Amino acid sequence: MKIQAIRGVKDILPDEIKKWHWVENKAYQIFSRYGFKEIRPPIFEKTKLFSRGLGETTDIVEKEMYTFEDRGGEKITLRPEGTASVVRAFIEHKMFASQTVHKFYYLGPMFRYERPQAGRFRQFYQIGVEAMGTHDPSIDAEVMIMLMDFFNSLSLNQFELQINSLGCDKCRPQYREALQQSIINHLPDLCDNCNKRYKKNPLRVLDCKVKLDMEITLSLPKITDHICGECKNHFEKVNTFLRETEIPYSIDPRLVRGLDYYTHTAFEITSSKLGAQNAICGGGRYNTLVEQFDGPSTPCFGFALGLERLISLIPFENIKDIDKNPDVFVISLGEKAKSGTFNLVHRLRSAGLSVERDYDGSSMKSQMRKANKSESRFALIIGENEINSGKYQLKNMQNGTQSNVTADSCVEEIISLTSNQVIEL
Ligand code: HAM
Repeated sequence: MKIQAIRGVKDILPDEIKKWHWVENKAYQIFSRYGFKEIRPPIFEKTKLFSRGLGETTDIVEKEMYTFEDRGGEKITLRPEGTASVVRAFIEHKMFASQTVHKFYYLGPMFRYERPQAGRFRQFYQIGVEAMGTHDPSIDAEVMIMLMDFFNSLSLNQFELQINSLGCDKCRPQYREALQQSIINHLPDLCDNCNKRYKKNPLRVLDCKVKLDMEITLSLPKITDHICGECKNHFEKVNTFLRETEIPYSIDPRLVRGLDYYTHTAFEITSSKLGAQNAICGGGRYNTLVEQFDGPSTPCFGFALGLERLISLIPFENIKDIDKNPDVFVISLGEKAKSGTFNLVHRLRSAGLSVERDYDGSSMKSQMRKANKSESRFALIIGENEINSGKYQLKNMQNGTQSNVTADSCVEEIISLTSNQVIEL
């Protein structure tokens, strides 16, 4: 019986994972420049963390969570996103006690039972960032600027940043009411889904992807015309900071997010190159979530980006430093040389070199072909004569030149050649 992977999940094979490592390393470098530190919450949590945290009427909680009872009868959910877990950990470990701004990033798999299609998976990876403990609008801008730095480091340039303000607990209820009233006038023309959800969650109607509905939503009241003075002020400051750094962006008054915890600034980054699932990244401010879980008042701002989508957009063909090829390929000819080089390979690796070798005792031609294919910088050629004389042949695979190295000094010699980036022998 052939067992295949579950629909909507995929294996990331070695040729692909090297791109992931490269992107992940860039993220670590850039995020740490901005003072973010890694946090690794577990990938499953008590179900109520997500149902209460993300909003009972969100698509994720209503129909997309992988929820099950464990053997002890506890209701468990595979995390559909990372923010709720970071908030839980923040409260559980009393990190608020230090009274500073806490800046976290995380990376890992998320799980949503969505209909799989290009760019949409049931297990997908996110890199997320959460800045916790300040309402200062400059951090909203700073986090978006960090994201732009990160995208620049990946040579990514075809994307759009849209921002909006979603108001706060004080002004959103009035907007919700005004929006609902206006939607009622358009119900016969709106899709079934919008007809269902406008009562419980009218803001989601603004997010509908049906073409006619999208046209109708243009005439609905705009949230930016309804937010209170405090929210307006916050949003204006975020805009001023973004303009100062000349980051291209636009304000989209219809931008709402699929999770209920957002307040004030919300943003999304999309790319037309992605097709229907065009969101690379989404996030915003969530000032009340920590309190909702009985923590102290802690305003927060964060985002998460989908790694599969991000990686599919990077022009890897123009990126040079992605492959780590072997420094040396050890070619051993004959049984005596093969066993005689076993410890040498170990010494080369222990000295920090990346070494590949042949396992099959194949011919010189075949081993040279393998060395070429591995794109290693040098081939160390050792046959029975070389073992007896203690002198090995070292071939520079880039220019074909060959020289002798002695058995005693070959580790040091190869190290100095590779660490000085010397190509000529
Ligand atoms: P989200 O918008 O639900 O936000 O997800 C963020 C990103 O995850 C999306 O923009 C998309 O790139 C990727 N993504 C979501 N679902 C899928 C899927 N089924 N397959 C592939 N990629 C997907 C959040 O998760 C929030 N926790 C972000 C946040 C952090 N807000 C504040 N802090």
